[in-house]
This record gives sequence, C-alpha cells and structure tokens, in this order.
Amino acid sequence: MRILVINGPNLNMLGKREPEYYGGQTLESIEGMLSQRAQELGCELTFFQSNHEGEIIDFIQKETLTAAGILINPGALTHYGYSLHDALADCKLPVVEVHLSNIYAREDWRRKSVIADATIGQVTGFKTESYSLGLVALTNYIRSQSK
Ligand code: DQA
Repeated sequence: MRILVINGPNLNMLGKREPEYYGGQTLESIEGMLSQRAQELGCELTFFQSNHEGEIIDFIQKETLTAAGILINPGALTHYGYSLHDALADCKLPVVEVHLSNIYAREDWRRKSVIADATIGQVTGFKTESYSLGLVALTNYIRSQSK
C-alpha cells in the first residue's frame, strides 16, 4: 500500500514559520515521524512538497495509477486551489486533508476549504499529530474498502 504524502506552499518553511500555529518541527522531521508510523501501519510513503500548484497537480497525475491514497496538507491552496481540487477529485483515490493549525479557529478566509469535498475527511488543529492521525484514518479506510 503506497500513500502519497503531499505538502503545499510554504510548508518547506516549517520549523521557522509561525510556530504558534504550526509547531516547531521541520517538514523533514515530520516526514521522519511519518515514516516510522508507516512501518507500524504496513504502508509505504512517497513524499512531495512544492510551492507551485501546477507541480503538485503534475505529481498527482503521474503517481495516481500506482498509489493507494493521498495524505495532503495543501497549505493556502486549501482556500482557493480549484485546479488542485479538480486533480484530487479526478484521481479517484481516497484523500485525507490535514492541517497543523485549526483552520476553523483563525481568519474568516481560512475557514473554508475548497478541496474538502474531494476528500474522505479532514484532520485539523493537532499540529504534527494531524499527520499521523490522518495516516491512520487513511490506511484504515483503504483496508476497509479492500475487504
Ligand atoms: C495550514 C493552514 C493554511 O491556512 C495555511 O495557509 C498553511 C498551513 C495548516 O497546516 O494549518 O500554509 O494548511
């Protein structure tokens, strides 16, 4: 079971970026933590981060056929990324959306996710833990569907 773990714009800056919202861990350390969780859960992860919506869409289109699901933190594309929404909806893979901060407890414009209806669910507000909760939920969902 191979899962694509995708991070959108500015998430390469984790560790330095607004730690009150996003915690103090770098993206590299989050990916390391997820790799450990993946071993326990019996899945393989492919990581991708880009600051460019088109590059993320290219990656999804290229990897879809051989992947079982997508765990994504779209960054600010969450709130306006219609092309990303369409790529996620079109790929037909189960998608879990994660956020480090609670997007519903921040500015008005952050309270809307335009990609949520292309996902099976969302985990928001648990800092790094959002990713591991999202990975558990996604792998459980994939296993339940293949029975
Ligand atoms: C974020 C929330 C977004 O609103 C923001 O633009 C981000 C990070 C989060 O993980 O909390 O870049 O997705």
